[in-house]
Amino acid sequence: MPVASIDPPPGPCYNRLGAVRILDLAGASVSEIVVIGSLNMDLVVRAPRLPSPGETVRGEAFRTIPGGKGANQAAAIALLGQPVTMLGRVGDDAFGEQLAQNLGAKGVDPAHLLATVGVATGTATIIVDAAGQNSIVIAPGANGQVTPQDVDDCDGLLRQARYLVLQLEIPLETVAHAIDKAARHGVQVVLNPAPAAQLPARLLSRVRYLVPNESEAQWLTGLPVSDAGSAARAADRLRQQGAHTVIITLGSQGAYVASPDGSFHMPVPEVTVVDTTAAGDAFIGGLVVALSRGLSLRDAVRYASCAGALAVTRFGAQTSLPSGAEVERLFQAFRPA
Ligand code: RIB
Repeated sequence: MPVASIDPPPGPCYNRLGAVRILDLAGASVSEIVVIGSLNMDLVVRAPRLPSPGETVRGEAFRTIPGGKGANQAAAIALLGQPVTMLGRVGDDAFGEQLAQNLGAKGVDPAHLLATVGVATGTATIIVDAAGQNSIVIAPGANGQVTPQDVDDCDGLLRQARYLVLQLEIPLETVAHAIDKAARHGVQVVLNPAPAAQLPARLLSRVRYLVPNESEAQWLTGLPVSDAGSAARAADRLRQQGAHTVIITLGSQGAYVASPDGSFHMPVPEVTVVDTTAAGDAFIGGLVVALSRGLSLRDAVRYASCAGALAVTRFGAQTSLPSGAEVERLFQAFRPA
């Protein structure tokens, strides 16, 4: 069904894509987990290596795969079996329609997705090398149009949430507004500061779980981060800057966690790496699901590590996200000393 053929119902909060009205004030589905963030169509090519400046490299077949850090994290949560609602914007184009339909099919409540007229859906151009490492350039498109007003328009969502999951692929002003609102409603904020941006201490102090990868932790602290020892120093610095609990993901080296109750390093299950795209998103999805089910922080990070590890064994962003049964199996088997 073409997006443009659907008449939007009145009011600022609507979903033209599925012609479903947002009913967050009465009767809409209520999720304890809300994601506010980006949706991208990933434009992906696998190549033997990432090209140097000025170089042309022959790659394999081009693919379009649903992505965007916000949508990936929402999809990860839904696939792990927890109800989740996503607020975000796509363009009124074919990519937008595909992304919204795909998210709904994965089990995410898409009622708060907005189609922005005259703006392109966000894209991410991704090259994946033979070792499964990637380089990504995003063109935000409609993601850049998610406003504080959008957050206010869906106030009912946040009032009933327990966890709000955010990344930095939408305007920082909107992220800041959502964090302030969540703090007022007593909602726990999980912030994945990706791509890295300077975060005021006032905001950090309202974040319950800050989850950067090593390069983002380095960017945020100015300290080198390459292993558990250096991650410990960066995590301490981020806690001094106001973050409550800091979880730095370190790829194949696992994750380092610093919280008011102490700190620890969590290794990751050994797997064959196919593509690291969205491994961090699977980790965050796993973390939030496990926390929302009442697991301890240590077990939640172990569960998240299993989700992230499974995601690197498959190609693509949302195509790589594991099911709840898969993560549960690995979680039962993976018991590091
Ligand atoms: O975290 C992976 C995601 O980053 C990709 O899906 C891409 O869209 C970019 O947002």
